[in-house]
Amino acid sequence: MPHRPIVIVTGASRGIGAAVARRLGESGAGVTLLARSEPRLEAAADAVRAAGGLAETVVGDVSDPEVCRETVERTLDRFGRIDGLVNNAGVIEPLSVTGVADLSRWRYNLEVNVYGPFALMRYASEALRKRHGRVVNVSSGAASRPIPAAGAYCAAKAALTHLTRVFAEEEPAVTALCVRPGVVDTAMQAVLRRQGPEHMPPEDAAFYQQLHEEGRLEPPEVPGRAIAWLVLHAPKEWSGSFLDYDDPMIAAPAAQPSW
Ligand SMILES: NC(=O)c1ccc[n+]([C@@H]2O[C@H](COP(=O)([O-])OP(=O)(O)OC[C@H]3O[C@@H](n4cnc5c(N)ncnc54)[C@H](OP(=O)(O)O)[C@@H]3O)[C@@H](O)[C@H]2O)c1
Repeated sequence: MPHRPIVIVTGASRGIGAAVARRLGESGAGVTLLARSEPRLEAAADAVRAAGGLAETVVGDVSDPEVCRETVERTLDRFGRIDGLVNNAGVIEPLSVTGVADLSRWRYNLEVNVYGPFALMRYASEALRKRHGRVVNVSSGAASRPIPAAGAYCAAKAALTHLTRVFAEEEPAVTALCVRPGVVDTAMQAVLRRQGPEHMPPEDAAFYQQLHEEGRLEPPEVPGRAIAWLVLHAPKEWSGSFLDYDDPMIAAPAAQPSW
């Protein structure tokens, strides 16, 4: 396959990121998968290979800029180019109201959710420019909706969303956008159900329980295929925008069996 697209996916060991990587594998992509837990990451890489793609893994913490630099270098050494970057790795913790928040855990949330994506865009921008590539940053409704006890997460997603807009202005050769993946049945939602009642107002904690009990959480494959489609096919005119995973202009082509 001469024109195999090459994409970096962070947070690819489980949840939405693993689904993005697997769907990219189905399209024959070469994927560099980054996350901290090695066994899960290797299993996700095997799933990419089984789907028809190539996979490279980097075990590390995205909050460490050296890990981000190594991820870009390893991708270029192995595949020779970078067509896309999906900044998906994210943490919701600490769940805590601002008045009693642990300062170092609050800072770490921003390092994972904002500084890591920044460092990857920083190190990958030259390679992306050469390929007229794409950046898809996984944001959240929390970027614009205040969620009590999730101040670090809300601040981080708002910052990531706005950084994406800035990057889109700065890099006319690159298509850079943000996506809201919906409410998804992953470990992150389980954290909200487990820790929410201790930290959130009762009605907010109950909302996350109800999403689960009423079967309203999306399987990760649904936003996963939307994000994979975006990183391979988003048109240039969408650069700088904040899109919903279920917008028909994304969901319809993403649901097609082959692309
Ligand atoms: N689930 C939802 O309802 C929802 C809603 C809106 C937005 N999102 C966003 O969607 C993205 C994916 O979330 P998810 O729901 O799939 O969550 P998840 O199941 O908790 O997966 C998070 C992924 O990020 C990785 N990760 C976490 N911290 C990392 C770090 N410091 N360095 C490297 N990798 C790290 C995790 O792997 P390791 O633990 O192995 O490192 C895992 O692969 C996140 O950006 C999240 O904010 C999710």
